[in-house]
Amino acid sequence: MEQHQITSQAINEYAEQYSQEESGVLKSLNEATLANVRGAQMLSGALQGSFLSIISKLIKPKHILELGTYTGYSAICLAQGLAEGGTLHTIDTDDSLQQMRQAYWKEAGLEQIIVQHIGAAAEVLPKIDVSFDLVFIDADKKNYGLYFDMLIDTLPLGACLIADNVLFHSEVVLAEAEQSKSAQSMHAFNEKIKASDRVEQVILPIRDGISLIRKIK
Ligand SMILES: C[S@@+](CC[C@H](N)C(=O)[O-])C[C@H]1O[C@@H](n2cnc3c(N)ncnc32)[C@H](O)[C@@H]1O
Repeated sequence: MEQHQITSQAINEYAEQYSQEESGVLKSLNEATLANVRGAQMLSGALQGSFLSIISKLIKPKHILELGTYTGYSAICLAQGLAEGGTLHTIDTDDSLQQMRQAYWKEAGLEQIIVQHIGAAAEVLPKIDVSFDLVFIDADKKNYGLYFDMLIDTLPLGACLIADNVLFHSEVVLAEAEQSKSAQSMHAFNEKIKASDRVEQVILPIRDGISLIRKIK
């Protein structure tokens, strides 16, 4: 299954080779997703997973929010940095993968600290009364801007948002008429973040483009 990545295959493989190795449980989950689940290119994978894990370990968040669980791979990576007693809340519309997620979270020793919410993120979000230090946005592309608007007031100063797919298959640089709907949504999101004086941000051309956004106001 072809991964969504904007760097060359060779550079991606080199970066993966010299980055932290995928743990046993992540490797098994990656393989099981590839073999058994539709849309396996959506899974974060080894390189992005190491990035999420290291960022989380640097921040040591008390509570993490994830929008878009899929088979639970990125949830494991992010949860590795949680502070003592912390939790990771993750939202997905798809409950058919719940048994698989739980099995791998259990194997990773994380089943007690990962809280799965089933439903559309925009409907579930207002019902979660938790202050999040770290947010990973990786759900439906058209609503990234909405999620930012819903979250920005609730986040403490210094909180970090990580948004995936912000360079959408390199299509964000094309003329609007040549972009897919998702690329248009990602470009609109990047414009929104750039225009906001409440955050500082950097876009990293890792995999399909990751935006690291920090609340400053
Ligand atoms: C890119 S995948 C997430 C991959 C996962 N974060 C990882 O790295 O392993 C996107 C997920 O978002 C979910 N999704 C799509 N629309 C959603 C919505 N409106 N609310 C919550 N989840 C949604 C899909 O069911 C899918 O599992």
